[in-house]
Amino acid sequence: MDKNENGNKLIELKHISKIYYLGGEEVRANDDVSVAIDKGEFVAIVGKSGSGKSTLMNIIGALDVPTDGAYYLGGEDVSDMSDTQLARIRNKMIGFIFQQYNLLPKLNIIENVELPLLYAGVGSAERRERAMAALRKVGLEEKWKSFPNQLSGGQQQRVSIARALAGEPSLILADEPQRPGFQDQPGCAEFSEAAQRGGQHHRNDYP
Ligand SMILES: Nc1ncnc2c1ncn2[C@@H]1O[C@H](COP(=O)(O)OP(=O)(O)OP(=O)(O)O)[C@@H](O)[C@H]1O
Ligand SMILES: [Mg+2]
Repeated sequence: MDKNENGNKLIELKHISKIYYLGGEEVRANDDVSVAIDKGEFVAIVGKSGSGKSTLMNIIGALDVPTDGAYYLGGEDVSDMSDTQLARIRNKMIGFIFQQYNLLPKLNIIENVELPLLYAGVGSAERRERAMAALRKVGLEEKWKSFPNQLSGGQQQRVSIARALAGEPSLILADEPQRPGFQDQPGCAEFSEAAQRGGQHHRNDYP
């Protein structure tokens, strides 16, 4: 696999563009974005509604591919990867906190938090233990048996934070963490601290 010239960078985007075509019209959601982010850095993407933040986050999270440009994650050229390789790298390296939390309605809270660990092949006892520890960090251990629709919006958001923390990823991506109330919530300090520590304390440090 291609290595870029600086393998110490966690993320390197070079001239990334994402163009959607809607009824013959071009929508340039991202237009020539270049940015490099080191391990342990804490970076916010800010901009007005519709300016392309979620689109860029989906590309950084290897959920979507750019129309143009190159993306290196941990020094590896992500644009060269197969879907299977992308899924593996997402699972290993990235914790997601989506704009719409993306909790699975049919799974209870702890099962939602355990899901990335399940995909990563962590055994059931350890999975439960790590998921419960993550729920404790966001102040929701007593709700572990509840289902997402039995929680408030803020509580659901905290579950999605716990899910991202449980996998101990190299990279945590959060869409709209400045949402009103987010900063005051239990787990938020833990989240930004974990994000600021970057890969240093994480077992899935990469590469
Ligand atoms: N699947 C799609 N098909 C066509 N256009 C899209 C698609 N997804 C996003 N867009 C367009 O791309 C632009 C950027 O959207 P994006 O969701 O990245 O914005 P955002 O900065 O996250 O906005 P917000 O702050 O409202 O969440 C918008 O003009 C949007 O309409
Ligand atoms: Mg958005």
